[in-house]
Amino acid sequence: MKALILAGGMGTRLRPLTFSTPKPLLPLLDRPMVMHIIDSLPDEVDTVVLAVSYMKDLLEDHFRDHDCGRRVVLVNEEEPLGTGGAIRNVRQHLDDTFLCFNGDIVSSLDLRDLLSFHRRHGGIGTLSLWRVPDPAAFGVVGLDGDQIIDFQEKPAPGTAISDLINAGVYVFQPELLDHIPPGVVSLERQVFPKVLEKGLHGYRFHGYWVDCGTPESYLRAQSELLEHGRSSTRATRMEGSKVIGPNYLDGANLSGCVIGPHVCALPGSSVSEGSLVERSVLMQGASVGKGCVVRDCLLGPGASVGDGESVQGRVLAELQ
Ligand code: GTP
Repeated sequence: MKALILAGGMGTRLRPLTFSTPKPLLPLLDRPMVMHIIDSLPDEVDTVVLAVSYMKDLLEDHFRDHDCGRRVVLVNEEEPLGTGGAIRNVRQHLDDTFLCFNGDIVSSLDLRDLLSFHRRHGGIGTLSLWRVPDPAAFGVVGLDGDQIIDFQEKPAPGTAISDLINAGVYVFQPELLDHIPPGVVSLERQVFPKVLEKGLHGYRFHGYWVDCGTPESYLRAQSELLEHGRSSTRATRMEGSKVIGPNYLDGANLSGCVIGPHVCALPGSSVSEGSLVERSVLMQGASVGKGCVVRDCLLGPGASVGDGESVQGRVLAELQ
């Protein structure tokens, strides 16, 4: 079986981090975002097809240097074709039932169960669905039993047809390709509404689900993983520091500071005396000076917070 990962978006909401790293390769604890998806695939998936475009060279380098135990095929779009266009662009690789993912989803979804749901229900595709208290910012799905009967994009307050949103993980039959026109096409807006009568089903699941597209949701995904047993500390100097878990600390240098909860500090990162860091990511070589407060921040590789600074909700990259 093949799994297709849509990994060609520009990740504009995570700038400036995505000026130097494509979103699928941004680190979530111990590995790049996209590897969380690949490592969760059922054994029956032997080939991963990545639909790439933005910064494709870095993605090629990553998969050349890291064996992920499956055949990996990268298919480039000269210009991003949208989520639907990207699927059509890899059609030569899709000849049977396939899994399809937005490349920035972190979830507890049981993919084997999703596949067996799809096989039981038949139809052209199955969409995983996640329940949210306020669906205003999402693609909303209307259901009759397990059958999808309607779609609504980003409904105005009080007008949502349900509280179930498209969770960005799908199972499709190759016939879906017959319904994607050439060019730039949105799967959600232009293809799904057209194939309703071909049998689209909705698979609801529980646990956790985060789309890591924004700084806030990136940090939420990190917190979910830490709360679900992915915390770790290794090769980290912590002299005189107070550590409040869960955190992921790997090769960091912490000195006389307070760290956590929900901090990821990667190799070469450092926090100096008298500083407090909570719910943040310190990527390789990022540094926090003395007497700082850092909350809800993403510090890219080599980014720094100067002595005495307080930062909250910021995305910082290294100054060039
Ligand atoms: P923003 O610019 O911040 O909206 O991020 P994005 O470009 O990643 O868009 P979005 O979060 O809506 O995309 C959801 C998923 O689809 C991500 O995994 C993207 O990489 C992927 N994606 C979006 N547009 C394209 C595209 O044109 N081509 C390909 N191959 N993938 C895409």
